[in-house]
Amino acid sequence: MPDADVARLREAIDGFTVDAVHGMLGDEAWRALARDETVPGRRATTDGSPLASLIRLFQLQIPVPRPAAEAAFGPAWEAARRLGLVEVDGDEVRAVLDLRPYGDEQHDWWVVCDLTPGLDGRDHPRDPLHVLGISEASSSLAQLTVRPQVGRALDLGTGCGVQALHLAGHARQVVATDLNPRAVRLARLTAELNGLDVDVREGSLFEPVAGERFDLICTNPPFVVSPPEGERLVYRETGFDGDEVVRRIVSGADAHLEDGGWCQLLAAWIHAEGEPWQERLAGWIEPTGLDAWVVQRERVDLPEYAEMWLADAGLRHAPGHVERYDRWLTWFAEQGVEAMGFGWITLRKAGRENPRVRIEEWTAPVAQPVGTEFLAWGRRADALASSDALDRCWHVGPDVVQETVGRVGAEDPAVIRVVRHGGLRPARQVDTIEAGLLSACDGELPAGRILDALAHLLDRDPAELRRDYGPVVEELVADGFLVP
Ligand SMILES: C[S@@+](CC[C@H](N)C(=O)[O-])C[C@H]1O[C@@H](n2cnc3c(N)ncnc32)[C@H](O)[C@@H]1O
Repeated sequence: MPDADVARLREAIDGFTVDAVHGMLGDEAWRALARDETVPGRRATTDGSPLASLIRLFQLQIPVPRPAAEAAFGPAWEAARRLGLVEVDGDEVRAVLDLRPYGDEQHDWWVVCDLTPGLDGRDHPRDPLHVLGISEASSSLAQLTVRPQVGRALDLGTGCGVQALHLAGHARQVVATDLNPRAVRLARLTAELNGLDVDVREGSLFEPVAGERFDLICTNPPFVVSPPEGERLVYRETGFDGDEVVRRIVSGADAHLEDGGWCQLLAAWIHAEGEPWQERLAGWIEPTGLDAWVVQRERVDLPEYAEMWLADAGLRHAPGHVERYDRWLTWFAEQGVEAMGFGWITLRKAGRENPRVRIEEWTAPVAQPVGTEFLAWGRRADALASSDALDRCWHVGPDVVQETVGRVGAEDPAVIRVVRHGGLRPARQVDTIEAGLLSACDGELPAGRILDALAHLLDRDPAELRRDYGPVVEELVADGFLVP
């Protein structure tokens, strides 16, 4: 990729941003496009402007007249051809790759990936080396990732390079890896187009970074569990059995993490017959000695799972659908798979003798970006590990509110709940002691002393209260109702 071509292209598409595309399409066409429907977008892009031509070429995949394409790229027209983004077909030009504006609150980026298959309900069997664009899973991982300033970060299975873009904002050095050579090429182009220095390497899992350590690893690996026969789509399936790819990343993380480092995965796992899913995950995590917080966001039944991934491969209406679907269910039964779990795994190299491992299901909506909560969880875990929870002064979390329920006119509420509006937005019913403790936690007195005062007020035995409520204080801290 000649630097001059990339630089010329960057300059030429300067105004091709998420906001500009959204502005031209309008809300309805924008939402239709998210559903892979282009008709409203076609109607909104008829003015022949350079922006309309770029949207038509890449987002809508409509060939545009050659003069319009040349005008859209301006001095970067030849560069766009050389970089393989577009090709000339008679009097028209069509996109070969997708060039997609992308951004967060602070940045406007572009991502280069393969064209979205299946627009307007077209048949779309995929190329096994298809390089996925930005999916819902990409956005979930981006929101889940902790974002402290770090030295080295690894984007494992980078695809089009989307996570590396985010990492470049808070890591001094970013390494991105992928097994798919097409992905390596496109992730490099994505990084260079955005003027970012990302070290993109080809290879499987941790092989390209053997012997190296990172402060942060994030990955949205190809975690689809499917029968082994037939063509594998590299963006979603591996040659490993079942959910082995996830197990390998979890098991390999420790060797590639600096002290205090984080590894975060968006992942799926098998619910196997006769084995609670929490035990399966614990069996992977415990030998690593890492702190862990696993959140199962969804339990998907097998028919739903098979339908989802058959449709994703463009096989929903293909010949042999019934037999293929049946084969998936037969294979799941043979493997002893009962359902699939999907969610988030956060690992942290805290270096504790007794790692803090938390494995739970939480399907309710969370406050985004939820990565801030994982970072705060790390700080809370350190605080709990460094001293007895009763000897420490805590604050009520800034996002905690109290809700009371009771009969109209009653002097005291029948139920008191505390609710966090941040993080995973947990809620907890509290008794009088817990409510009193929380309202007195303003960072001035250790929790144990507050319990002593409550014992005095309520005529209870202070030793008993400390014994009974010590674990409660730990739980309140673990859930972020109390913070250091
Ligand atoms: C679901 S995509 C994720 C892409 C991107 N990181 C994102 O967040 O959207 C999974 C990526 O992992 C890559 N991959 C597949 N098998 C791999 C392996 N054994 N080692 C490393 N990467 C692999 C695929 O080529 C694909 O780019």
